[in-house]
Amino acid sequence: IIEENEMLRTGIKAVDYYVPEKVVTNDDLSTIVETNDEWIASRTGIRRRHLSTGENTSEFCIEVGKKLLSKTNTNPEDIDLIIVATITSDYSTPSTACLVQGALGCVNAWAFDLSAACSGFVYALSVADKFVKSGQYKKVLVFGSETLSKIVDWTDRATCVLFGDGAGGALVEPSEDSGVIDEDMHSKGEDGLKLTGGERKVRNMVSNPEEENKNYLEMDGRAIFNFATKTVPKSVSILLERNNLTVDDIKYIVPHQANSRIIEVVAKKLKTTMDKFFIDVDEFGNTSAASIPIALGHMDSKGLIQKGDYIIITGFGGGLTWGSTLIKW
Ligand code: UT7
Repeated sequence: IIEENEMLRTGIKAVDYYVPEKVVTNDDLSTIVETNDEWIASRTGIRRRHLSTGENTSEFCIEVGKKLLSKTNTNPEDIDLIIVATITSDYSTPSTACLVQGALGCVNAWAFDLSAACSGFVYALSVADKFVKSGQYKKVLVFGSETLSKIVDWTDRATCVLFGDGAGGALVEPSEDSGVIDEDMHSKGEDGLKLTGGERKVRNMVSNPEEENKNYLEMDGRAIFNFATKTVPKSVSILLERNNLTVDDIKYIVPHQANSRIIEVVAKKLKTTMDKFFIDVDEFGNTSAASIPIALGHMDSKGLIQKGDYIIITGFGGGLTWGSTLIKW
């Protein structure tokens, strides 16, 4: 079995995305906190974001899932596994993935959520890849979905301008000539408290901490900026070197869409130009685990990726976590 599976790759059968209809511009934000379009756009590249008017994280995935099943003519009963990367699930339990499984009618799939913040989709694809390569599971739905607007402090101008809502996903299945080729995955828990959200202290009949929970997203912006600009170029370089490729062999690097200034520094360090990177942070803001699959779906809808192209996706964020995947489309 091992020999048979040696050539097996996890192919990306289809990608798609869904964002809520409601668009909030930088000017709209300047009516609720002291900020302006010039500050937000020049520091981050963000101009608009889509915010939920009520749809929750599972509902975004369900929309993406319906599109993936329909465009690949796949029966819901044929899906073996569903993984949702999110830090903003509808409930602590049931998992978002189980809600999605139920709603899509994937009665033969098992389903679970995965928490790795902005690296969520890269992590989830890595997990799906191992399940597919084992030979035991054939069709896996992998989502990154977030309703970050639920955990943003709308009175804090330093964070509320950065984030957006939405989901993206992929249907992956065994492939012999394309798919996931290599990955470079990391965590650094000792710096975890540099980016937090949704703290749940022990508060019960025998414990009553003095401090309140930090319910909202909080981060040391400068530290995260430095972390991202240090780790991402290194991670991408590792994949290139290990696979005897140069950056010129890669059609697109698709980074987590946090901030276009981070990507500018990454481009410089990789000795390449901004047009090597797909960027849509201007339209969607930072959607954490959803940003890479939204970008892939967005690129696919524009016909930017062709069969045979090499793509590198690279995520970084809360955990701290980071990771990159080399994919032959
Ligand atoms: O998924 C990973 C997510 N993390 C990231 O992407 C974060 C990476 N970090 C960054 O991109 C940048 O650190 C930020 C964009 C978050 C902030 O940029 P910065 O250049 O590091 O700004 P800063 O936090 O040092 O703030 C500079 C000034 C401050 O004013 P003073 O103290 O200099 O008077 C802030 O109060 O800008 C002020 N400021 C704002 N002004 C207008 C902070 N937020 C805003 C705002 N509008 N929205």
